[in-house]
Amino acid sequence: MKDKISTSQEGQVNDMKSYYAFQAKIYDATRWSFLFGRNAILKKLPLDRFKPIEILEVGCGTGSNLKALAKMYPNAKLTGMDVSGDMLGIAKTKLEKFENRVTLLEEPYGAENKFDKKFDAILFSYALTMINPQWEELVHQTPKDLKDNGIVAVVDFHDANFEFYRKFMRGNHVKLDGHILPILEQNFTPLISQVRKGLLGVWDYMVFIGMKK
Ligand SMILES: C[S@@+](CC[C@H](N)C(=O)[O-])C[C@H]1O[C@@H](n2cnc3c(N)ncnc32)[C@H](O)[C@@H]1O
Repeated sequence: MKDKISTSQEGQVNDMKSYYAFQAKIYDATRWSFLFGRNAILKKLPLDRFKPIEILEVGCGTGSNLKALAKMYPNAKLTGMDVSGDMLGIAKTKLEKFENRVTLLEEPYGAENKFDKKFDAILFSYALTMINPQWEELVHQTPKDLKDNGIVAVVDFHDANFEFYRKFMRGNHVKLDGHILPILEQNFTPLISQVRKGLLGVWDYMVFIGMKK
């Protein structure tokens, strides 16, 4: 199968824009069945429920996590970043009710973003395995955008237990190599670091919550 992983940031962004031009239409109807752990990680965030905190989701997609966070943290301000205008279009509609507390940015996350604030928490939900090969730069950028004692939360694929699945996912722009969790554990103080079985043990996924060192 063709390796669909680009090497430049521009290539990565363009790959995502074209992949999600169609996938955005079926995203919410399909992804609940295999993107495990998304609701669970939100419930485990060690954040003060009623404080006016700032949360960023990188690769917010259709905005389901932001909507859940807006309900869970009624005084929080939320920022969602994504490179796919098609995914953000769905997020915008979904988040209309919370528009005074939610900012959506159509741009890739990285050192070039100039935020006028630091965040209490940064969430990556099934995003880092699709941001290749820049994912490690993003992990290193994260503490710079967090307040002291800020939280990073990552839920994502961890590794494939069968070669056919690794190749299939590579064809869908996802790199599954157990490569992300060790780097998160090195760069943050782990509060939760777990590997869990995906469907029928075909893949493993990870749940990581860490604090800025
Ligand atoms: C699998 S979806 C996850 C969406 C959402 N976080 C969720 O949990 O349902 C991955 C998202 O990451 C976005 N993405 C990919 N590369 C990105 C980048 N460099 N910067 C920001 N977002 C990116 C994609 O456009 C896509 O919407």
